[in-house]
Amino acid sequence: FPIQAFQTALIDWFQSEKRDLPWRKNRDPYKVWVSEIMLQQTKVDTVIPYFHRFIDKFPTIEALANADEQDLLKVWEGLGYYSRARNLQTAVREVQASYGGKVPMSKEEFGKLKGVGPYTTGAVLSIAYGIPEPAVDGNVMRVLSRIFCLSDDIAKVKTRTFIEGITREIISEEDPSSFNQGLMELGAMICKPGTPACLLCPVREFCQAYAEGKQSDLPIKSKA
Ligand code: ADE
Repeated sequence: FPIQAFQTALIDWFQSEKRDLPWRKNRDPYKVWVSEIMLQQTKVDTVIPYFHRFIDKFPTIEALANADEQDLLKVWEGLGYYSRARNLQTAVREVQASYGGKVPMSKEEFGKLKGVGPYTTGAVLSIAYGIPEPAVDGNVMRVLSRIFCLSDDIAKVKTRTFIEGITREIISEEDPSSFNQGLMELGAMICKPGTPACLLCPVREFCQAYAEGKQSDLPIKSKA
């Protein structure tokens, strides 16, 4: 697999075509973290106004750590999965208490915080700090299942771990942020569920499923 050519094609496409999203305006690790937590169970278009209101009300880790839980839940109202908000506050309080208010750069430390799993760890460390850590969510599993024509069930933890391993091998060390966000963006804009827009795909020439005409049959997912 031509790793370098793939990285270049993906990153160049991401740089020129990426959507102008509010959490892409800077690399503040706190803002990246808030956005990734909101985006886990909620679509981009829904998240945008919530993200603005949240950051207006709680612009820093310190502000969120000191916030009243009722005020926090009020800003989150309508987004659902309220444990995400409570866990985030618990986690930023831990960042205040143990890391001097600075989001830790080590995946061991960051990954131990409440509500933070492997996906959030990879997303925040790569986007905010440029650390080459995979950020594999459902979109990225779909994209990579197609590129490598993998028929493993993406509902299985083992498949996710396998795909994380592949990502670790092909991730750009130079620009892990654009590489990971490029995979996410490709999944959102081009490599959609059902019938993907392969004719617009910047990495079509690297796609094994496209070569075999199997793009609409992948990924395999046993349960919703
Ligand atoms: N979905 C999850 N993380 C995202 C991000 N950083 N940008 C766009 N969509 C996303």
